[in-house]
Amino acid sequence: MDNRPIGVFDSGLGGLTAVKELLKILPHENIVYFGDTGRVPYGSRSRETIMKYARQDAAFLKTYDVKMIIAACGTVSSVAENLGDGLGVPFTGVLRPTAEAAAKATKNRRVGVIGTTATIRSGSYRRALAEIDPGIEVFDQDCPLFVPLVENGFISEDDEVTRLVAQRYLEPLRQAQIDTLILGCTHYPIIQQIISKTVGKQVTLIDSGRETALFCARTLREQNLLCGREEEGDRRFFVSDQIEGFSKIAGIFLGCDVKNGVSHVDIESY
Ligand code: DGL
Repeated sequence: MDNRPIGVFDSGLGGLTAVKELLKILPHENIVYFGDTGRVPYGSRSRETIMKYARQDAAFLKTYDVKMIIAACGTVSSVAENLGDGLGVPFTGVLRPTAEAAAKATKNRRVGVIGTTATIRSGSYRRALAEIDPGIEVFDQDCPLFVPLVENGFISEDDEVTRLVAQRYLEPLRQAQIDTLILGCTHYPIIQQIISKTVGKQVTLIDSGRETALFCARTLREQNLLCGREEEGDRRFFVSDQIEGFSKIAGIFLGCDVKNGVSHVDIESY
């Protein structure tokens, strides 16, 4: 039994979609979340910059004596694959659990992957899927406009702007007759209804936040690190930009009100 918190970080608040799943699967766990709202987005940045930011984010979480660290960010998981080396606690990004779930789900072995430009450019999902099953054909597409659309609230199922953008990005994947689509970015589950309608309801969507939360639960169980509390866990939130307006945006990703306060952190000092 281990009552230390789980540390979760993301380039911004999108990683709360993974926290939402953690709260369902592991409601008793304490969680410390860091969202790098002062430096988001990561998805359009260079590898070096993303590596530097990710190391600082993990170093900050370590000051809270976390028992496991989750990079709930598609971009970090793809670009900084070896971030876990030397951290001294179990680590996971979203990449491996998500690729494994997709490989399990596909029947026709035609898998689509969507993510930020950095994620798709890294080729990480192609490599991970090829390692699991070299027979899987991968069709990938970066969707850089999805993040700002979600952050600006263009998320309702019938939003015409988002539907048009989705059509532009996803039509080639629909034509490729994929049967499984990896939502390789934190923000995409928020518009999964639109994505599903565009690629076809028969396509299985793989939510990287959910798969990663399930992986985290398995890891903690295997390593005997689950907490021994009966009551609901504590949640602490940290951001690197202003804290005003946090609750409203956090609520979109978390799907519930954020009761606890949020604190500011000077991430450059880590
Ligand atoms: N969190 C990022 C991801 O999942 C999306 C936002 C960004 O570009 O930083 O890839």
